[in-house]
Amino acid sequence: MSKSNTLHGDIAEVLISEEAISRRVTELGCEITKDYKGERILAVGVLKGAAIFLADLVRAIDLPVDYDFVWLSSYGSGTESTGVVEWKKDIESDVRGRHILVVEDIVDTGWTLRLSRLSENLLDRGAASVKVCTLLDKPSRRRVEVRVDYRGFEIEDKFVVGYGLDLCGYYRNLPYVGVLKAEVEAALSRQP
Ligand code: IMP
Ligand code: MG
Repeated sequence: MSKSNTLHGDIAEVLISEEAISRRVTELGCEITKDYKGERILAVGVLKGAAIFLADLVRAIDLPVDYDFVWLSSYGSGTESTGVVEWKKDIESDVRGRHILVVEDIVDTGWTLRLSRLSENLLDRGAASVKVCTLLDKPSRRRVEVRVDYRGFEIEDKFVVGYGLDLCGYYRNLPYVGVLKAEVEAALSRQP
């Protein structure tokens, strides 16, 4: 962390403001409410990054929503994908006959969703349908194709933090999405 010793002090640029996130989450909630009219939803958040987005998204959906979490870990502690996905925690819910909305913080290379086979796995267990909703999408970084049904924002190829997204476990609690100062990112990425 920089000399300022605050989270905001480590940010070079706010990419998506708190207000813009809030407006977009409301829009996504309306769209999902329309698409699933008359149904119940089981939202499955991918820990840890999607927890904050999921908390806001479910409150923007005007239908009965239950939620659960899987913990998939694709990154070491730095900014580059390891290409290995560890399934650290499974959901507790019975998915048979249920409409699942997978909630992700960001789809970057696509490896997390592809290697975990999350959607396929839920369908194999008897889910009635599986759709994917991501807050952020970095299509220019995609290495494998994954289907994204709802996306909050498309962003360019920059490493971002905030609103659930971290570097080395920190910055998730920033209320907006921003880019770290280069020296802060370099210092944190160097840590073992
Ligand atoms: P993918 O497997 O490359 O699609 O990456 C998905 C996961 O990588 C996300 O759930 C994030 O945890 C992490 N990730 C990818 N890009 C970023 C970023 O810009 N900031 C923080 N985490 C990221
Ligand atoms: Mg992460």
